[in-house]
Amino acid sequence: MDTLNRVLNVFGFRKICVSLSIFIASFSYAQNKVNPRVVTDVLPISSSEYMSKNKDMAILGQALFFDKELSGNRNISCATCHSPMAATSDGLSINLGEGAIGLSVARSAGTYPPKITDPLERGQRNAPALFDRGATDFTTLMHDGRIAGDGKGGFVSPAGNELPQGFDHLLEVSSIFAFTENQEMLGQAGENDMADAAAMYKSNFTPVWIKVVERIKAQAGYHTLINKAFPELKGNLNDFGIVHVGKSIAQYQVSSFSSSEDNPFDRYLKGDKDAISKQAIRGYKVFTEKGQCSQCHNGPFLSDQKFHAIGIPQIGPGFGGVGINGREDFGREGETKDIGDRYKFRTPPLRNVAITGPWGHDGAYKTLEGIVKHHLSPKSSLFTYDISQATLPSRYDLDQIDFVVTKNSATTMAIGRAITLDPIRLSSSEVVDLMAFLHALTDPKHLDLRSAIPAGVPSGLPLAD
Ligand code: HEC
Ligand code: HEC
Repeated sequence: MDTLNRVLNVFGFRKICVSLSIFIASFSYAQNKVNPRVVTDVLPISSSEYMSKNKDMAILGQALFFDKELSGNRNISCATCHSPMAATSDGLSINLGEGAIGLSVARSAGTYPPKITDPLERGQRNAPALFDRGATDFTTLMHDGRIAGDGKGGFVSPAGNELPQGFDHLLEVSSIFAFTENQEMLGQAGENDMADAAAMYKSNFTPVWIKVVERIKAQAGYHTLINKAFPELKGNLNDFGIVHVGKSIAQYQVSSFSSSEDNPFDRYLKGDKDAISKQAIRGYKVFTEKGQCSQCHNGPFLSDQKFHAIGIPQIGPGFGGVGINGREDFGREGETKDIGDRYKFRTPPLRNVAITGPWGHDGAYKTLEGIVKHHLSPKSSLFTYDISQATLPSRYDLDQIDFVVTKNSATTMAIGRAITLDPIRLSSSEVVDLMAFLHALTDPKHLDLRSAIPAGVPSGLPLAD
């Protein structure tokens, strides 16, 4: 198949097929009026894309985002894995959950005997950056899209009908789930009141959210912030609930991590030909034409919001206890239960991508060039994957198990068979241009996010360890 593709490429057939499919796709979009976007369009950002902003809610949200008081064992906050010091992620392939020590890139799994255990306190996937997630163009969140709109103004989430009413945006919904994950923020039964409540009532959702809200209300420092953010409560803290928490944390993310409309790439798209370098302009052409990247990476945030299998090597503890030794990650299948969705992951947005490594749903690539080259020949990249590309804090016992799936040839073959991304031949100068383009997607305002960090939080707990 690969050889066939290469031959077709040489004769330019593929381009014709692609143009034809774009034509057909745009025709069917026009027919259904579902989405006016032509499949491969890369679009400028419009501020009307974002949920409307509320400063007082953002101030409350900032405190909540950084306060470890909200985690079961009071040892981790959202900012531990989504740090403004690490471009709203953590610089690791796979996050280290509650119980580990240190912030983001400096986070460590401790020495043996274990401070944190696998898989109870280890994260399962790469912590994504939070840039622009408050835009309406994001119709799915999480690598497997398990938080999404239901098409009727409501939301699909792991909480099913325990999800409270009152949310208006996906980001608000997504902002209350880290509390409910044992390895992320909750901890284990027997360790704290929140995890105990989850075990007692056999649900990680409502009982945990009730406890989170209790902990917030118990800190006097939050009362003024809540009253300012939600004047409609008229000071009645009894009506403050988890929906307010989600809305506030979402407001913090939108106010601190949204792109500006006058970032260099958007200025270029709107006609300022000098806004990005000549090399980046050539790279943009490679991106949209020969490289066919915009087949999937399109729209204002360069994601079609759909799911594709591109064969990223699997490392670490896996997700959901499936496959070889329970250490595989089936991706979208975990959500849809459709085996046809196995190994598919959401097309990630590419705004600011140069600063959000490691890359891939499990951070298998520590260089941007590594993951771009993976796209050019996905199968051979998968089969020849060098595990030194992973950024997993080393500990003897974990090193023994983190590459069990990676080294299993049957699984690697299966991941390879699922790939739907065709290889592409680019010259080395085209690759260099493409890299320059990806770097040009960085909004300079996001390079230094120190102003997004508060001086302290109402509980008085330290921001770092
Ligand atoms: C232990 C690390 C960790 C902590 C703590 C954490 N997150 Fe995350 N976050 C992740 C990981 C990993 C994912 C991706 C999960 C997946 O796809 O299965 C994620 C996904 C998200 C997303 C979706 C982003 C996207 O592009 O799909 C949002 C929003 C988010 N987290 C916000 C938060 C907030 C708000 C908090 C605090 C309440 C928080 N996170 C705490 C690791 C963490
Ligand atoms: C068939 C759809 C598709 C095409 C075409 C495609 N990508 Fe991707 N891309 C994806 C998916 C899906 C992922 C995430 C895969 C995963 O994590 O398992 C991804 C991941 C990435 C990432 C890593 C982002 C991150 O935050 O981890 C970069 C960079 C990237 N793609 C660039 C490109 C470039 C450059 C091209 C063109 C040469 C391209 N992509 C073509 C679907 C596609």
